[in-house]
Amino acid sequence: MERNLHNLLITGGAGFIGSNLIRHILRATDFTGRIVNVDKLTYAGNLENLAEIRNEFGAGRYRFERADICDQEAMNNLMRKYEIDAVIHLAAESHVDRSIVGPADFITTNIYGTFSLLEAARALWGDRHDVVFHHVSTDEVFGSLGANGYFHESTPYAPRSPYSSSKASSDHLVRAYFHTYRLPVTLSNCSNNYGPYQFPEKLIPLTVLNLLSGKEVPVYGDGKHVRDWLYVADHAAALWTIVRRGTAGESYNVGGENEMENIAVVRLLCDIIAAAKDRPSEPYKKLIAFVKDRPGHDRRYAVNCDKIKRELGWKQSVRFEEGLRSTVQWYLDNSGWVERVKTGEYKKWMEENYTHR
Ligand code: NAD
Ligand code: DAU
Repeated sequence: MERNLHNLLITGGAGFIGSNLIRHILRATDFTGRIVNVDKLTYAGNLENLAEIRNEFGAGRYRFERADICDQEAMNNLMRKYEIDAVIHLAAESHVDRSIVGPADFITTNIYGTFSLLEAARALWGDRHDVVFHHVSTDEVFGSLGANGYFHESTPYAPRSPYSSSKASSDHLVRAYFHTYRLPVTLSNCSNNYGPYQFPEKLIPLTVLNLLSGKEVPVYGDGKHVRDWLYVADHAAALWTIVRRGTAGESYNVGGENEMENIAVVRLLCDIIAAAKDRPSEPYKKLIAFVKDRPGHDRRYAVNCDKIKRELGWKQSVRFEEGLRSTVQWYLDNSGWVERVKTGEYKKWMEENYTHR
């Protein structure tokens, strides 16, 4: 059964996955209703990621509201004002390294913020069944794998960083609202995303930008940690599929089925950039520097996503090398975005270009 949705509240829509999701829903699906993007605009929120969307779609299709998801009153008001019938919750502190240095914001936004959204949804929806609260989570809640095996939906939770613990906690809360209050929720646990508009603190954009500016590329530990990479547009398509057709109370794993050691990813990026610049790749590879390992660094993630394929008919569409090449090309073609993010100018850009919603 497909949900017939009219007004979506997308939290964290100015971030990497959120902005790609909004673009996907408005441009590549048959959704005819309105998206309300609620974002606090932390360092990771960048409205330039949605500049074309704001120009292309009028206020009847797309609205931005600056707010903190922890602000209960603001969330209640937004839910009511826009008669929201689906929440797609992405707003979070998302970077593991930052959670190690300063966990407090992760606890507040990821746990308390999810709680306040659940409360706002419960207050507006009562016992409606034609609505949905979709919680976007991570494969990191399952902990670290050895050389073999995969994360399944039934894998016990074993988070090991402040980030993954805060996401695990929010997942439990979301499930509790289903069991206790019958709030129609769905969850997804996804592997590592890459693609356009990713903030250059994460491995792939950091590597691309460092290689392009001749800076060292830090690889943690022995570089043999394994991640399962998924192109962000494929994640966006998976999220929309679950929101439309996912069964209330269920979680769905989403992954790239594309495991690779970090060092192999970095070397491949050297080759892709060398080819794009028509230069040899050795000088790029010389920039690789093995550095001190991340504390508590999870060794391997690998996601089994048979359930979403079998039950909802989703599958990945972008091969890794192809996705990496177009990602590198995107960073090459968008040097203005890169420069403004690197210098912090993007915050000023937002003030100047975003005088109204
Ligand atoms: P991101 O850091 O790029 O974006 C997060 C967004 O949330 C930003 O726009 C930020 O301004 C906003 N935000 C932060 N705190 C807020 C608050 N208190 N109130 C309102 N807005 C706030 O993150 P991302 O990589 O796009 O990840 C989005 C979601 O997907 C997160 O929930 C993350 O846990 C999950 N996820 C990410 C990945 C990945 O590889 N990036 C994989 C699986 C799941
Ligand atoms: O698995 C899903 C998760 O993927 C998401 O939930 C997180 O929000 C997202 O940030 C990502 O977490 P990771 O910690 O896996 O991503 P990151 O890009 O930070 O690191 C990827 C791998 O690369 C990891 O093994 C650490 C390593 N690394 C990372 C950085 C930033 C390096 O070796 N050097 C680096 O400079």
